[in-house]
Amino acid sequence: MKIGNIEITSKLTLGPMAGVTDYAFRKICREFGLEMSYTEMISSRGVCYNDKKTLELLKIDDNEHPIGVQIFGSEPYFMEEAVKRIQQMADYEILDINMGCPTPKIVKNGDGSALLKDVDKARRVLEAAKAVSDKPVSVKIRIGWEDTFGIVDFAKAIENSGADALTVHGRTRDQMYSGKANWDIIKEIKKELKIPVVGNGDIFTLDDAINRINDSGVDGIMVARGAQGNPWLIRDIISYFETGQINKKPTGEEVKRVIMKHLKYAIESKGEHRAIVELRKHIGWYVKGFKDATSIRNNINKSLSFEEFEYHLNRLLDN
Ligand SMILES: Cc1cc2nc3c(=O)[nH]c(=O)nc-3n(C[C@H](O)[C@H](O)[C@H](O)COP(=O)(O)O)c2cc1C
Repeated sequence: MKIGNIEITSKLTLGPMAGVTDYAFRKICREFGLEMSYTEMISSRGVCYNDKKTLELLKIDDNEHPIGVQIFGSEPYFMEEAVKRIQQMADYEILDINMGCPTPKIVKNGDGSALLKDVDKARRVLEAAKAVSDKPVSVKIRIGWEDTFGIVDFAKAIENSGADALTVHGRTRDQMYSGKANWDIIKEIKKELKIPVVGNGDIFTLDDAINRINDSGVDGIMVARGAQGNPWLIRDIISYFETGQINKKPTGEEVKRVIMKHLKYAIESKGEHRAIVELRKHIGWYVKGFKDATSIRNNINKSLSFEEFEYHLNRLLDN
């Protein structure tokens, strides 16, 4: 698919996940063949106020291209100003606007999926970004606030306001992450739009990826939670679509190797203490299904140094 002037050959993108798809995890996913990723969502106000934690999220590896910087906000002024500043600070290919985040602390400010309730405001936010962006601008939405009424028209309005691509997570805001993603609506939106449409929601296996692409006709698919602790899913989807190859499940040794590499990249970007603490949630995902997973996870959760972490991880054996 082509987003503005950016050609993306793979059908697969990795969804932005705040607190998960940071520099280290994205670097791991690239090593599994991922072509297109996004930063965690970045506050437009935070950028304008030079907030240190916000700006940290703009750390992008030299080998991580193409990449989308995802921004959120509902005030055209801050959006415009933030885009101008990000352009000076970061090297990226696509600007993505978040109109899907459901969390109360975001929507209470009118940001994220709250924009789905106000198409005029959503258009103004997009147009403000588009007016100053020297990169293509995409938008990520859900299929509505409490129901899906009017969502196709909302998607068309976004296209008419200049979006270069649209990602659709097939859940309403009220669903948060429960229930099933509705791919029928994603298919309907795809039919109505000329810009590339990326479908998102509940792709956890290679079969899910194959079925969703074939059934919905989308230009691309986005995997998010399915990649948590399982970058092998990325490899599986990419190799299947490139060569038809089906891969074996990773062994305990392989999982260990990837976890240690993940830790190394996290230390590189955040320092040892923070990396070890932040990797804990990933460990829970990585070791799920392995023998003694609970005790390994509990011990790693108490580890405070690289050596301790490695010692406990070494107990991860093939199941
Ligand atoms: C922990 C977590 C953090 C997320 N953060 C973001 C975010 O920063 N920006 C965004 O657009 N979506 C975010 N999402 C939503 C995902 O990108 C994706 O749309 C959603 O999880 C559905 O896809 P999935 O079923 O493949 O997980 C987040 C999801 C999770 C679980």
